[in-house]
Amino acid sequence: MTSAAAERCRAELEGRAPTDPGPFYAWLRENAPVYRHPQAGACFAARHDDVAELLRDRRLVAQGPGAMLATLSDPHEVQRLRPLREFYNNWMVFSSGQSHELVRAALRPWFASSVVSPVLPDVGRLAADLTGRAAEFDVLGDLGRPIAEAVVGSLVGLDDARLAQLLVWSDAAVGFLTAADPIAATTDALDAAEGFRTTAAAIMERGGTWAAHALRAVGAVDPGAVAGVLAQVVTGTMEPLPQAIANAAFALLRSPTQLASWRSAPSRHGEMVEELVRLGCPFTYAPRTATEAVEIGGVRIEAGERVLALLYSANLDPEAFPDPKTLALDRRTTGVLSFGAGVHYCLGAAVARSVLQQTLAALFAPTHEVRLAGDAEPVASLGLHGLHQLPVRLTPAAPTPSDG
Ligand code: HEM
Repeated sequence: MTSAAAERCRAELEGRAPTDPGPFYAWLRENAPVYRHPQAGACFAARHDDVAELLRDRRLVAQGPGAMLATLSDPHEVQRLRPLREFYNNWMVFSSGQSHELVRAALRPWFASSVVSPVLPDVGRLAADLTGRAAEFDVLGDLGRPIAEAVVGSLVGLDDARLAQLLVWSDAAVGFLTAADPIAATTDALDAAEGFRTTAAAIMERGGTWAAHALRAVGAVDPGAVAGVLAQVVTGTMEPLPQAIANAAFALLRSPTQLASWRSAPSRHGEMVEELVRLGCPFTYAPRTATEAVEIGGVRIEAGERVLALLYSANLDPEAFPDPKTLALDRRTTGVLSFGAGVHYCLGAAVARSVLQQTLAALFAPTHEVRLAGDAEPVASLGLHGLHQLPVRLTPAAPTPSDG
């Protein structure tokens, strides 16, 4: 690898996480599509076809922070952090092999549309209520987050106070995963692990909710997995969904012709959402570890090496999506990788698409115009593609001649 590649990756990774990783991805795809990054201790795979293939390769497995926690040198620390190891090892995106397959097979029927849809809140009405509250609001904080919270609330069936506590634990559990110094974040993460354990037990004991049924099904095949699965569902909703809503709204607001297409063709919203999810891809990568030597894009990956499958870069690959940075609601979207692929393909993808569609339909309803009302601040992060805020202003739509 050239030193220019090393320098570019180092700059992007250390201290200057990109607010727009697009140019970095383009450079990687062109010059170093599978790049072994020394500081990151991982190979970056940037091209669409390589990413799609490696996510389906069973020799590359998901592994969470449990592996790192097991290698700490202080035996007391290892013992103190054991509950944390067990907790994260049971998140579905961090587990692999037979234990993952069993849990996934038990949980999957609960995500069938006929089973989960009746449990979800009336997102269209909720989004209409939220957008009608003030002339100016933040699409991320005042619309995306409350909607994601309502989705979690209806799945877990907890009262407001318990739900609020669960969301605090959700933030702490994710905070540990993204902390610059994870060991400093272990106290809150241990609290979160214990909180998810006791809440999962209480949900199952009380019964009668979607989560009670789903967690009991998981508990029947792997009793130790229920807390991790509950955390996976809560964080899996709270982390990407508000960002996907804000990213999609931002893309539409920046493209008046595409916004006009969206508004004029409600019957095509289902297909159009896929293009919005392609460009708005919130999770930028999925991490994997090689269990044996494999070849990706002509590069040999050794057993034990980590690989980051760059999902967002794959979605921006011109080989797969011509003129990739342009929002084109009528484009062919086969192969969008925002929800991953293979054995870890997002179980909540249909829920997410439906929530996104209903939220955007309410936000861009014909009754009002929507305009940007301030800076949409991009998040500078290697792992998350999103915004700190998306301020908008709503004004009543001008009457049309047919309004009389
Ligand atoms: C726009 C919103 C969402 C995005 C972009 C997204 C993205 C993803 C991705 C990329 C993965 C796979 C990660 C990997 O391969 O390592 C995943 C897995 C998962 N997601 Fe989502 N997700 C979203 C919403 C949801 C929702 C709403 C739920 C639940 C209600 C959910 C539940 C899950 C679960 C349970 C898994 C684990 C699947 C497994 O490992 O077998 N996700 N998600």
